[in-house]
Amino acid sequence: MADLDDLREGAEFGLGIQATPEGFHVKGAAHQPWGLKDRLSRVFNPKTGKTVMLAFDHGFIMGPTSGLERIDLTILPLIEYADCLMCTRGILQSVIPPTVNKPICLRSDAGTSILTELNDNVIIDIEDAIRMNVSAMAVMLSIGDPAFEAKTIANLYKAVDLGSRYNIPVMGVTAVGKQMARDARYFGLATRICAENGANIVKSYYCEGFANVAAACPVPIVIAGGKKLPEKEALEMCYNAINDGAAGVDMGRNVFQSTSPAAMIQAVHAVVHEGLTPDQGFELFNDLKAAR
Ligand code: R5P
Repeated sequence: MADLDDLREGAEFGLGIQATPEGFHVKGAAHQPWGLKDRLSRVFNPKTGKTVMLAFDHGFIMGPTSGLERIDLTILPLIEYADCLMCTRGILQSVIPPTVNKPICLRSDAGTSILTELNDNVIIDIEDAIRMNVSAMAVMLSIGDPAFEAKTIANLYKAVDLGSRYNIPVMGVTAVGKQMARDARYFGLATRICAENGANIVKSYYCEGFANVAAACPVPIVIAGGKKLPEKEALEMCYNAINDGAAGVDMGRNVFQSTSPAAMIQAVHAVVHEGLTPDQGFELFNDLKAAR
């Protein structure tokens, strides 16, 4: 067993020093095979190296939550502004027209709901991902949860094994239990564990000290939006995350629960890809909202 007596916090994150240039726009993927790079290039824009993923997989644990009651009415109008869609197979097959031709990050684990034990998930059939021609698979990890940590890490490990056979990248999604501190120490640990177990992309939350989290993660991190914030604050979070080393967002509620979801996703897109400041992004949001 590893010696825990002298476990020292990392302190040398080399902030400001670029990771070794590798000739590919997705961090940590330079040595991957062609098919995997092709899929990653559909998710991450080769010109900016960034992505705006639209997450609307929430129903798989919480049913028709606010903003997702009618995905045909609320999400379909946003699809043209997203770089990638993160959803479950059920919604993909029943509501999303295949003609949208957007890369899909398929929610690839399932098991429990908000009514029982969250996080007691198993991975779903890899062939689903192949059949639906997805560009990535997402698997949740519950780091620090005594009941499900090992099981969810094993899920990720297995998903990466299966994904590797067909060059389908896997995104590790860090789920934060109520008992966990949402700080850089926790997210640094959780994101690194995802990467160490083979995740090609990691989804995390933004936090104080995020630059260290991003620096120590050898693959791209996209941030979840978390609970709905006022639009200006959500844009500030995106801006700070990108400045601190995030490769984009995988955002749900802060888009589809916005007072103007279409304006919000376009403003997020401009902050992520064009480097608009939060003030500029908020101005764009207000202009687009007013024009609708
Ligand atoms: C959580 O398991 C899901 O992956 C959500 O899609 C994720 O939390 C992103 O959504 P939000 O931006 O609403 O936090």
